[in-house]
Amino acid sequence: MRRVVEPELLDALPPDDPRAVGSRGDLRRLNFVMGHAHILTRALAPGHGASPLRSRPLRLVELGAGDGSLLLQLARRWSVHGITAEVTLLDRHTLVSGETRRAFAALGWSVETVASDVFAWLSSPVPVAGVMVANLFLHHFEEEGLGELLRLAAAKADLFIACEPRRSAFALAAARSVGLLGCNDVTQHDAVVSVRAGFAGRELSAFWPQTGEWELRERSAGLFSHCLLAQRNG
Ligand SMILES: C[S@@+](CC[C@H](N)C(=O)[O-])C[C@H]1O[C@@H](n2cnc3c(N)ncnc32)[C@H](O)[C@@H]1O
Repeated sequence: MRRVVEPELLDALPPDDPRAVGSRGDLRRLNFVMGHAHILTRALAPGHGASPLRSRPLRLVELGAGDGSLLLQLARRWSVHGITAEVTLLDRHTLVSGETRRAFAALGWSVETVASDVFAWLSSPVPVAGVMVANLFLHHFEEEGLGELLRLAAAKADLFIACEPRRSAFALAAARSVGLLGCNDVTQHDAVVSVRAGFAGRELSAFWPQTGEWELRERSAGLFSHCLLAQRNG
């Protein structure tokens, strides 16, 4: 299946439009169905002594973080292992609720939200993050933007992990059925567009800088997802 990037409806709606609010609620449900919190937790293996999550202080960045609910789920899972972090949630919109901020604080995690375009922010003099996460975000970008984004991310992270839609006939059939889960018209449209813009094979690794200082692992995950983990050697 050829990769096709088309505009998503959620990106064109004002953040407080009821259909956008509904679609972000759908995204929380779809992240659950796709098992993304579980996939990301397993990939970083916080129970393991050498996990990158063990670095102190841990600076954790999520690109295209939306309402921050996925990273909050990760924080809840990782804090069980005594991990705390200074989190930056980057999105072009400010979408993180007071309730989500308080939930991070209750875990002892500090949270900074940044409303910015990802390219502008990654090009600014921000400190290197121990871990940088992108969830359901990279598929928004055409090849040129993707190459630029991953080049900038590689300069600002010691470990980068992305969990994206898998571009497959099965995932496409599932995306066409999200209405059965009660997802609204925006999500029904965007789910199909997202799978068509998703990834397969080693497509994301091909965009990562080929400098030899990175260990790259790219694979399908769960039933519907595709992940890249890039870790700086040493
Ligand atoms: C599909 S949502 C995923 C949100 C979140 N990661 C999740 O899993 O629920 C994609 C997010 O990327 C943000 N976004 C899209 N393009 C962006 C850009 N160029 N710079 C910053 N954020 C962007 C949107 O505002 C939206 O919140």
